[in-house]
Amino acid sequence: MKVLLLENIHPVAVSLLEQHGFEVELQAGAMSEDELVAALPGVALLGIRSNTTITPRVLDAADDLLAIGCFCIGTNQVDLPAAAERGVAVFNAPYSNTRSVVELVIGEIIALGRRLPEKTQRMHEGIWDKSAKGSHEVRGRTLGIVGYGNIGTQLSNVAEGLGLRVIFYDTADRLAHGNARRMTSLDALLAEADVVSLHVDGRPGNAGFFGDEQFRRMKPRSMFINASRGMVVDDVALREHILSGHLAGAALDVFPVEPKKQGDEFTSVLRGLDNVILTPHVGGSTQEAQEEIGWFVAGKLAGFAHEGRTELSVNLPAVQAPPLVEGSRIGYLHHNVPGVLAEVNARLAEQGVNVTGQYLATRGEHGYVVTDVAAPLSADATAALATSPHTMWLRAFGPREQ
Ligand SMILES: NC(=O)c1ccc[n+]([C@@H]2O[C@H](COP(=O)([O-])OP(=O)(O)OC[C@H]3O[C@@H](n4cnc5c(N)ncnc54)[C@H](O)[C@@H]3O)[C@@H](O)[C@H]2O)c1
Repeated sequence: MKVLLLENIHPVAVSLLEQHGFEVELQAGAMSEDELVAALPGVALLGIRSNTTITPRVLDAADDLLAIGCFCIGTNQVDLPAAAERGVAVFNAPYSNTRSVVELVIGEIIALGRRLPEKTQRMHEGIWDKSAKGSHEVRGRTLGIVGYGNIGTQLSNVAEGLGLRVIFYDTADRLAHGNARRMTSLDALLAEADVVSLHVDGRPGNAGFFGDEQFRRMKPRSMFINASRGMVVDDVALREHILSGHLAGAALDVFPVEPKKQGDEFTSVLRGLDNVILTPHVGGSTQEAQEEIGWFVAGKLAGFAHEGRTELSVNLPAVQAPPLVEGSRIGYLHHNVPGVLAEVNARLAEQGVNVTGQYLATRGEHGYVVTDVAAPLSADATAALATSPHTMWLRAFGPREQ
């Protein structure tokens, strides 16, 4: 099977795919729509980053395409419903830069506590201003984490290692890590935290959820960090609370409106404020995260192509099937109509197939059933399923009857 990887994907992805027996072709840059249309026939797996756009026209030309790996976090560059309609699975790497975000936030907690942005600025201006005023150790201070998911929990663990007391608030039930303390409301957290760090997701209800009222409820001279989503925070209110001195500092990595491309001007009411760290959405951007993304997405592509595994697919039903270690497997993507599972099992039973495991999930108009059977799998059994009017595709994995 042929794999085409665009946009300088990390070499770890190439090694992993080659180890799985794929023939890998590389291109350093992105491809235009016309270039993709010409290049994709014969390609089973396509790897892209954020600069390659996958349109319905591209998908129509890609007869042999099984899956697309987005070697990044976002998947906006792919027409996901169009890919699903054509049975093409799309994968990404939603968690591979968790540690990178955590390390940036830890650095910011220390830097804000020591007022480093101001201090380094003054030194560059030639001013020697040696003073301990307003500088604090992080040890013993209270970090309030809002949103205790992948990033929030890892931050909790690393922060405790530095001697911070951790409290957290999450709208969902989350297990407290280490000695962290769950708070029953956001207000309770704001009243106690010396540093508030937001790690909530981008659900629509979170737009503007942290504004003037929440800043008022924070402790005097506390600090604020947002590396989650720009739309969550009212930056105008934050500016007022920095200028009034109520907040001692802030660090922002995400903004309600971000420049579209490299070199574009960054406009924000937060520019030019003392003890405010502004970074260009780089929380997750490290070499290590790129390597992790390469390994993670390549593994998802190989698992789909060799074993029909769709867990964490962003457009097809995500089935939690175990690795295929013995026996054979049928991956069956179908239109989501009532009675398909019963029909699958009836047709397999007619062929005398011994089912050893079955896993299914549906998503919108599609259903996906993974059926593990005793090896070897006969051609009659797969043919019996393939002729169903609900079939989108059927793929067999593992030993086949000769
Ligand atoms: N700055 C960057 O470069 C960067 C990199 C990666 C992720 N992120 C962002 O960081 C955020 C967290 O990522 P994650 O992987 O930990 O997400 P996650 O989905 O694992 O965790 C989010 C948590 O927030 C909770 N939550 C949602 N709304 C809430 C609210 N209003 N109050 C309290 N809790 C709430 C959820 O229940 C969940 O536990 C996301 O918004 C993600 O997009 C930013």
